Amino acid sequence: MWSLSVVLNPLLFLLLFGYCPSVTIRPKEGWQVYSSAQDADGRCICTVVAPEQNLCSRDAKGRQLRQLLEKVQNMSQSIEVLNLRTQRDFQYIMRMESQIKGLRSKFRQIESDRKTLVNKNFQELKGKMESLQPLIPVLEQYKTDAKLISQFKEEIRNLSGVLMGIQEEMGAYDYEELQQRVLNLENRLRNCMSKLTCGKLMKITGPLTVKTSGTRFGAWMTDPQASPKNNRVWYMDSYTNNKIVKEYKSIADFVAGVESRTYNLPFKWAGTNHVVYNGSLYYNKMQSNIIVRYSFETGRVVTQRALELAGFHNVYPYTWGGFSDIDLMADELGLWAVYATNQNAGNIVISQLNPDTLQILNTWNTEYSKRNAGESFMICGTLYITNSHLTGAKVYYAYSTKTSTYEYTDIPFHNQYFHMSMLDYNARDRALYGWNNGHQVLFNVTLFHIIKTEDDS
Ligand SMILES: *[C@@H]1O[C@H](CO)[C@@H](O)[C@H](O)[C@H]1NC(C)=O
Ligand SMILES: *[C@@H]1O[C@H](CO)[C@@H](O)[C@H](O)[C@H]1NC(C)=O
Ligand SMILES: *[C@@H]1O[C@H](CO)[C@@H](O)[C@H](O)[C@H]1NC(C)=O
Ligand SMILES: *[C@@H]1O[C@H](CO)[C@@H](O)[C@H](O)[C@H]1NC(C)=O
Repeated sequence: MWSLSVVLNPLLFLLLFGYCPSVTIRPKEGWQVYSSAQDADGRCICTVVAPEQNLCSRDAKGRQLRQLLEKVQNMSQSIEVLNLRTQRDFQYIMRMESQIKGLRSKFRQIESDRKTLVNKNFQELKGKMESLQPLIPVLEQYKTDAKLISQFKEEIRNLSGVLMGIQEEMGAYDYEELQQRVLNLENRLRNCMSKLTCGKLMKITGPLTVKTSGTRFGAWMTDPQASPKNNRVWYMDSYTNNKIVKEYKSIADFVAGVESRTYNLPFKWAGTNHVVYNGSLYYNKMQSNIIVRYSFETGRVVTQRALELAGFHNVYPYTWGGFSDIDLMADELGLWAVYATNQNAGNIVISQLNPDTLQILNTWNTEYSKRNAGESFMICGTLYITNSHLTGAKVYYAYSTKTSTYEYTDIPFHNQYFHMSMLDYNARDRALYGWNNGHQVLFNVTLFHIIKTEDDS
C-alpha cells in the first residue's frame, strides 16, 4: 500500500494504475477499474487491475479481444495523462468531441453495411459507446495538451477499427463481455473524475491583465454554467448608482470593446459582488438587503428576496467599503451569499442559496470579521478570505462548509494595481476574476489532492 501527494496546476486529476494479477478477480473478468471512492479525508482512491498477460491468448478472437481491452485501457490512461497535463485550451477538446461523433457515425456505417451481421449485442455496445457522450462535458472542464489529445483521438480511432474487426469475427458472448467492460470503464472514470474535480487552494498565479477600463471599482464575469462555446462576458462598472450591464460575446470582444448588448436593470446595484450563474444575474439591490435575480434571456427580474438579518449599505462591507456588504458567488456546489449579521457579531456568515427561489438552504457562521476581510471567494464549498484589498494582501483564512471548520492560510497573490474591489472564482475557468483598480485581471489557481492507491496483493 502506498500513497502519493500531487499538486496539479491547474488540474486536479490523476488515476494510478496498479497491476495486481493476484486480486480476487476471476481470470475471465479481465482488467477492471475499480474503487473510485472518497475516503474520510476527501481522497479519491482509484485502482486499475490488469489481467495476467497470457489470459486471452488462446485463439485469434481472444487476441483481438485482449488487444481491444488494451486499447480501452490505453484510452483511459490517455484520459488521465491528458487531465494531468491540462492546459487552458478548449479547441482540442472540441476536436475530440467531433472524433467521438465520428466514431458514432462509423458504427452507423457498419450497421448499414452489415445488416445481416448485426445482432442485439452489437446494438447494445453501440449504446454504450454513445453513453460515453456524457463524459464530454466533464472533459470539457479541463483544458488540455495537444499531443495527448491527438494520441487519445488516435486511440479512439484505433479502437473503432478493432471493434469493426471484432464485430466480423466474434460471437455474441464476447460482445457481452466487451460491452460490460466499456460500460464499467465509463462509469468508473466518470465517478472518479467527478470526485476529483475539487481540491484545496494551494497557490494563486498571475495576474493576467485582460483589459484596463472603467472606474477604480467594478465587476466583470462569465457564467460558470455556460457551455465552453459560450464565453459571454458581463461588465458592471462602479459600485453604486448604476444599473447598466454591458455584454460582450467573448473575451476577445471584451478586449476589443465590441459590445453585443446592454441591459438596463430595473433596480440599481450596490457593491461589486454580483454573480452571473446559469443565465441569470444575481445582485444586491441598492440600499437594501434584497437579492435580485435578473434573467438575461427575458430581460426581467425573476425573483427577489431579502437576505434576512444581513447588514447592508456599508454596515458590514469589505475593507474597501463600497457597499460591498453582500457578496454573491458561485462554485462547483452552487450559489452562495456571504455577508455579516449583528447576530454573528459582524462576522462573516455563509449561506447556500437555492438559485431559483433565493431561499437559504443552509447557513454557516464564521468567526472572521467581515469588516476585516478584503474579499472572499468560494472554491468547492470552502470560503477563502483575503485580509486586505491593498498591496500585500493574501488569502488568510479558509472556512470549509463541508466540515464547518476553519484554518488560517498564507496564500499570497499579486495585487498588481494596489486596490482590489472584486475577486471571484469561476469554476468553469478555474480562475479568479478580479477588478484591480480599473484593470480587469485573471488569476490561475492551483488546487491540491492526495490520491492513494491500495495494492491488495
Ligand atoms: C497500449 O500502450 C502501450 C504503451 O504505450 C503500447 O505498447 C501498446 O501497444 C498499446 N496497446 C494498444 C492495443 O494500442
Ligand atoms: C493506431 O493504429 C495505427 C495503424 O494501425 C498505428 O500506426 C498507431 O500506432 C496506432 N496508435 C495507437 C495510439 O495505438
Ligand atoms: C440551469 O437552468 C436550466 C433551465 O434554464 C435548468 O434546467 C437547470 O437545472 C439549471 N441548472 C442549475 C445548476 O441550476
Ligand atoms: C493560466 O495558465 C494557463 C496555462 O498554463 C496559461 O495559458 C494562462 O495564461 C494562465 N492564466 C493566467 C491568468 O495566469
